[in-house]
Amino acid sequence: MRKKVIFITGASGEVGQALLKELAQEPGVQILTIDLHPMPPEMHGLSTHVEGDLLNARLLARLVSEYEMDVIFHLAALLSTRAEIQPEEAHQVNVEATLQLLKIAAEESQWRRRPVQFIFPSSIAAYGLPDRETKNHFQRVREFEWNQPRTMYGCNKLYCEMLGSYYSRYYRQLAAEQPPTIDFRSVRFPGLISAFTVPSGGTSDYAPEMLHAAAQGKPYSCFVREEARIPFMVMPDAVRALLMLAKAPRQHLTRQVYNVTSFSLSAAQIRDRVCAAFSGAQIRFEPDHKREAIVDSWPADIDDSAARMDWEWAPAYDVERAFSEYLIPNIKQRYAR
Ligand code: SER
Repeated sequence: MRKKVIFITGASGEVGQALLKELAQEPGVQILTIDLHPMPPEMHGLSTHVEGDLLNARLLARLVSEYEMDVIFHLAALLSTRAEIQPEEAHQVNVEATLQLLKIAAEESQWRRRPVQFIFPSSIAAYGLPDRETKNHFQRVREFEWNQPRTMYGCNKLYCEMLGSYYSRYYRQLAAEQPPTIDFRSVRFPGLISAFTVPSGGTSDYAPEMLHAAAQGKPYSCFVREEARIPFMVMPDAVRALLMLAKAPRQHLTRQVYNVTSFSLSAAQIRDRVCAAFSGAQIRFEPDHKREAIVDSWPADIDDSAARMDWEWAPAYDVERAFSEYLIPNIKQRYAR
């Protein structure tokens, strides 16, 4: 008998670690994780961890022969800045690995005659506004608007959302009898900020970088101008969104891809909050116009009313709570050690 597991890819990454900590608290759950990197020591024992490459078909085949993947949280990805530096590699990781996993999930669903649930984090990078004027004009963007990404990462995420929908609705549509296939659900995240980890390779990274630098007494030079604005969310809410969407009754879902967000801040507003918490913070603005242009193409805010309606999504941390109860105390404690 194969072991029934929740499978998390990219588990050593920021969202992966936070999700694993939360899922591991649920009684009776077996978790299988994979990442190119090892799990940090404090996470050992929470899952069966495989250090390996999702693009290794043999490795995936071995895992499928040993484990029944009941739910897949497919988090592995190269983020937006890194993907601009290595676009073809990003396509391999972000798209080709996703395709392999969707196929595995579809075959598994057919074999056991019950859908495998496939949870996929997408991103505000799936949007692309052509210029600052348009961004100022369309403040809160809905899921189906401005889907013209200007980054490889954004193109990858948007396409994988579509692939997921395809696999869940039309895969093998010409077969005489349509077999059960996957239950695909996706959230489009805003920029994410964790008190415990720092991202690498993203373009919304200036917000967490500013905070973590200030907490360590290090100067920080911000790569976007003061007015640059995008939506953000803290990590506990990102994990909550994934778990709430996974648990939502399928008949309540009117779409497969949902915006989720918490607060929208300009880089200057983040700086002000950081300076209020860390009096000696040294933050300068030295825009890198190319990275800033990516941030400018992302919406200033996103409309998450569909998620609120369908599965009662609401962030637990608004901007006040995010900073005063989660970010500042935890970051202070982290670097005080
Ligand atoms: N945080 C991601 C990035 O900056 C966007 O989803 O690439």
